[in-house]
Amino acid sequence: MKEKVNVFDYAEQITKAFRKGILLNTNGDKFNSMVIGWGHLGVIWGKQTFAVYVRENRYTKAQLDKTQEFTLSVPLGEADPRLVKICGLQSGHRIDKVKEAALELEVPEVNQTPGIKAYPLTIECRVLYQQRQDLSLLPDHICNEMYPQDVDSSNPLANCDPHTMYIGEIVSAYLIKA
Ligand SMILES: Cc1cc2nc3c(=O)[nH]c(=O)nc-3n(C[C@H](O)[C@H](O)[C@H](O)COP(=O)(O)O)c2cc1C
Repeated sequence: MKEKVNVFDYAEQITKAFRKGILLNTNGDKFNSMVIGWGHLGVIWGKQTFAVYVRENRYTKAQLDKTQEFTLSVPLGEADPRLVKICGLQSGHRIDKVKEAALELEVPEVNQTPGIKAYPLTIECRVLYQQRQDLSLLPDHICNEMYPQDVDSSNPLANCDPHTMYIGEIVSAYLIKA
């Protein structure tokens, strides 16, 4: 069951949930979920939006580019360490996270990407705009810390590549109830 909510009533909890790890779900060739610690709820072009930042090598990026939609699952209580480990350290390039993490999915309301029952606050988004970061425009200290270029870029844990920002229009927000 879904209980519709005004997502801005949850702004503080969403902001705090970035520290626990929000789940960014996509559903292209298969359902996949990755942990994000960066992003923001806001308004642009007169629309309620959610921006997320995804590095080049993520399976999530390939799915987002294909489907142009995503669904966020936000923990309101404690984060589940098992979900953080599987969805934040392993890639959909190699594993099926639904199986590995025993994810229980909730049928979406508007888009085609389910939420995850373990994290009740669910935000469905359609991509309005995407832009790859231009590292030359970043302050040096951020560039050196977040995007070191002297690493082996073939290593899946390498962090030399830029993020792409995806601004999603919020098309539905609800709590998943048992
Ligand atoms: C706490 C935490 C926060 C993270 N935040 C982000 C983020 O905002 N953007 C990003 O691209 N990767 C982030 N990651 C890394 C991805 O979750 C990780 O690389 C994941 O395995 C990618 O999965 P995928 O390849 O299936 O998309 C974070 C990981 C953790 C543990």
